[in-house]
Amino acid sequence: MEQYIIRGGNPLVGEVEISGAKNAALGILAAAIMTDDTVLIENLPDVRDINVLLEAMESIGVKVERLTRHAVLMNSEHVGEVSVEYEYIKKIRASYYLIGALLGKYKKAEVPLPGGCNIGSRPIDLHLKGFKALGAKVSIRNGFIIAEAENLHGSHIFLDTVSVGATINIMMAASMAEGYTIIENCAREPHVVDVANFLNSMGANIKGAGTDVIRIRGVQKLHKTEYSIIPDQIEAGTFMFAAAATKGDVMVKNVIPKHLEATTAKLLEIGCEVEEFDNAVRVVASKRLHSTNVKTLPYPGYPTDMQPQIGVTLALAEGTSIVTESIFENRFKYMDELARMGAVVRVEGNTAIITGVDKLSGARVSAPDLRAGAALVIAALAAEGVTTIDDIIYIQRGYECFEEKLRSLGAEIEKVNSEKEAQKFRLRIC
Ligand code: EPZ
Repeated sequence: MEQYIIRGGNPLVGEVEISGAKNAALGILAAAIMTDDTVLIENLPDVRDINVLLEAMESIGVKVERLTRHAVLMNSEHVGEVSVEYEYIKKIRASYYLIGALLGKYKKAEVPLPGGCNIGSRPIDLHLKGFKALGAKVSIRNGFIIAEAENLHGSHIFLDTVSVGATINIMMAASMAEGYTIIENCAREPHVVDVANFLNSMGANIKGAGTDVIRIRGVQKLHKTEYSIIPDQIEAGTFMFAAAATKGDVMVKNVIPKHLEATTAKLLEIGCEVEEFDNAVRVVASKRLHSTNVKTLPYPGYPTDMQPQIGVTLALAEGTSIVTESIFENRFKYMDELARMGAVVRVEGNTAIITGVDKLSGARVSAPDLRAGAALVIAALAAEGVTTIDDIIYIQRGYECFEEKLRSLGAEIEKVNSEKEAQKFRLRIC
């Protein structure tokens, strides 16, 4: 099983290029199914989730031609199957975007029910409510969601909870429904806007993405397009916190600063210097950071996907901080791992109380999920001594060339897949 071995203590210094946004790419790849024309998608992140979704799409007949690691040509003219196999949805939940895309285009979709995951139960009731409102008959049989409709018609849909997935899935299906759809209480994340812009580039008629009301006039056909994915604001924020926690000086390039406002505000609050450029941000942490309080909220609030990253940074800040996770019910599992590195943390329900310590020490820990895994890497980079991180497959789902990018900033990190390799690296660094 692959591991990271990290020797902490080096401030991260230099420049890092951010890849395309995983959570935008997952919706956009699914939406590409909705035209019979060939679609070119660029700035794809080369990460496990994207590669698994492409395999799932090939399994139902989508022609996928990988031009480079970051560019793909897709053609769905000969999609013969609207049923996606369980093995794909088991690997990535976001295969459920294929329901909205297949239902919109073929008026039928069969996709396995996604399970929960390590951060919570993650129901999809709002997705199904939206499909039903558009006229689909939705049933669950043998672990599959079966959605089908004679025709899809416009509707006025109110989302009880702000949901990125439901907003994107319903928007896709509605883009080829007959008539006019209004979706209220929508998610406003940059990746929702990116999927809407992609659909509009194929001839859809979607207005209001990025606000909490999206208006869609359905169209009969969608056509070819060439599209480049926005930069990944969560990857960018992860490197910004890595600079903060290691008292470094990092220029994070290929970003949209507007998408990082909540993260930048918190970094300034805890004592970092943050300089914004057109498509880059520079984070400098020259002195000891201090505590703050943070509550995760839907965009433009502080992102839940950035909660572990600030959590580990606050473990080294002066004073006591309170982190409240309002989106998912089980997103503090990394705190136990952090305590093994010497952090003083207490979790009470959806709140973590973090009392900053002068230093963390290296230990053997395991990544509980994607973002918590990346946060433990940050903790290891800031800790004294050597840390071994197990289960890094979670991290590889959402971070392209993570260890190479960190090494280019001065980190001592190695990916190993045997105890022998681990020993060799330890001897080399100690
Ligand atoms: C997306 O998940 C992201 N994943 C998550 O990022 C991110 O944490 C989340 O949005 C919130 O920003 C992708 O985009 C692939 P939600 P999603 O629907 O769409 C509840 C990462 O690290 N809810 O916005 O599944 C749900 O339980 C991942 O890249 C319902 O109750 O999240 C949660 O409490 C982790 N019913 C809240 O809404 C539904 O039908 C927000 O979930 C749907 C959601």
